[in-house]
Amino acid sequence: MIEIEGLSKRYHDNIVLEDIELKIQEGEVIGIIGPSGTGKSTLLRCIDQLEIPDKGIISLDGIRVDLSKKNKKEIIKIRQNTGMVFQKFNLFEKKTALENVMEGLIVVKKMKKEEARKLALEELEKVGMLSFANHYPKHMSGGQQQRVAIARALAMKPRLLLLDEPTSALDPELVGEVLEVIKEIAAKGFTMLLVSHEMNFVKSVSNRVIFLDKGHIVEDGTPKEVFEHPKNQRTKDFFSKMSILNQPEYVI
Ligand SMILES: Nc1ncnc2c1ncn2[C@@H]1O[C@H](COP(=O)(O)OP(=O)(O)OP(=O)(O)O)[C@@H](O)[C@H]1O
Ligand SMILES: [Mg+2]
Repeated sequence: MIEIEGLSKRYHDNIVLEDIELKIQEGEVIGIIGPSGTGKSTLLRCIDQLEIPDKGIISLDGIRVDLSKKNKKEIIKIRQNTGMVFQKFNLFEKKTALENVMEGLIVVKKMKKEEARKLALEELEKVGMLSFANHYPKHMSGGQQQRVAIARALAMKPRLLLLDEPTSALDPELVGEVLEVIKEIAAKGFTMLLVSHEMNFVKSVSNRVIFLDKGHIVEDGTPKEVFEHPKNQRTKDFFSKMSILNQPEYVI
C-alpha cells in the first residue's frame, strides 16, 4: 500500500492542496477529476517530487519519506518507485524512441547498455511502437510520442504510475490509441493515479474515483458512486456543467 498523509501545498496565499490523505491499494486505478486549477497536477507533481509541498508524508513498502524536506537520497527512493506521464509527452527531442526509453534504465537503474536496450525494445513492443524504435520524436505523431512516453515510464517498473491528462494535448483522432494502451496497462494490475477530463474513460478504466475541489478530496468512491450519486454540491454542479449524464456513450 502507498499512503499519503497530510499533504499541503500553497503558492503564496493560494492554498492549492490542504491536508490531503490518500491510501492507495496495490492494483488500484484511481481516476482524479475536478475543475481546472483545483490542484490535480500539483498533487501528482508533489507525489513525484517535481514540486516540494509545505508538508506531507509518503509511505511505500515501509519507506516513510517527508515530502517537504529536500533530501536527495529520499527523492531518489520515491522517484525509483513512481513513473510520470505528462500531457505534453516530454520526450528528449534529440533521442530516438529507443534511446528515450533506455535513458532512465541506464542513468537511474544503472543497467548495462545491452540489457537496457533489450528491456526498452520489449516495452516499445507492448505499446505498439517497436517499428518506431529508431525514430525521433519530431517524426512521430502525438499519439505515438505519448505511447513512447508510457513505455519509458513503464520500463522503470514503477510501483505507482502517475498520468496527468495523457490525452489532452492530442488531436481527437489520436486519443483512442493512447486510451487503449492505458486500458491495457490498467488491466495488467498496475497501480495508477490518472488525472483526466475524459469522463467516460475515467469511468470505464478506474476502480476508484476521487473528485478534487479547491485542494480537498470531496468525493472518494467507486465510479458508480461518484458519477451516479455524488454527495457534494460542487461535484453535482461540475457534472451538470459537463453534461456528462447526457452523453449517449455514458453507460453504467
Ligand atoms: N508553479 C506555480 N506557481 C504558482 N502557482 C501555481 C504553480 N503551479 C500551479 N499553481 C496554481 O495552483 C493551482 C492548482 O494548479 P494545478 O495545475 O494543480 O491545477 P489542475 O487541477 O491540474 O488544473 P487543470 O485541470 O487546469 O490542469 C492553480 O491556481 C495554479 O494557478
Ligand atoms: Mg492539471
